[in-house]
Amino acid sequence: TIERARTAIADHTRLVPDFPSPGIQFKDLTPVLADPAGLASVTAALASVSGDVDLVAGIDARGFLLGGAIALHSGLGVVAVRKAGKLPPPVHSATYDLEYGSASLEIPADGIDLRGRRVFVVDDVLATGGTLNAAIGLLLDAGAIVASAAVVMEIDGLPGRAAVTSAHPDLTLTAL
Ligand code: PRP
Ligand code: MG
Repeated sequence: TIERARTAIADHTRLVPDFPSPGIQFKDLTPVLADPAGLASVTAALASVSGDVDLVAGIDARGFLLGGAIALHSGLGVVAVRKAGKLPPPVHSATYDLEYGSASLEIPADGIDLRGRRVFVVDDVLATGGTLNAAIGLLLDAGAIVASAAVVMEIDGLPGRAAVTSAHPDLTLTAL
């Protein structure tokens, strides 16, 4: 399953030289998810590494695409972890550092009861780990058990994996 996804990722990722800065090669996953076999294989591969969970959380914005697809594939529900300012109160909020400044992620604090729920968190890319750690923190604040997390791709040379696993040693973290 994971091999099929890796082949689709290798075949369909669009490589953009010198973006967002000179010398950096940006990997655009858009064509992978726009391809039917790409979406199916990435969805199945991510779903296969969730472990025993009962809810999927997708991180704004491309994690929404993955989270919804995985939840449907696995017969689970999905919750959107949103950028700040989109949800009506009350919310759980977590702020994380960006290269310049900071950002916040939010989930509803009412309407869904996350206490004791086993959650699988998904996003497209892991870079510094700030986004994923903030999302995990929010879900923990809401009383969830964050059992596992997965991304399509991690950026080499950045401490994202170490940042997440040191903060959350019991969590299973997978990059395809
Ligand atoms: C990108 C990417 C991840 C995050 C990873 O999202 O989609 O969510 O950065 O970076 P980190 O590990 O250093 O936190 P971005 O914040 O650019 O916004 P988007 O998903 O809305 O495009
Ligand atoms: Mg993102």
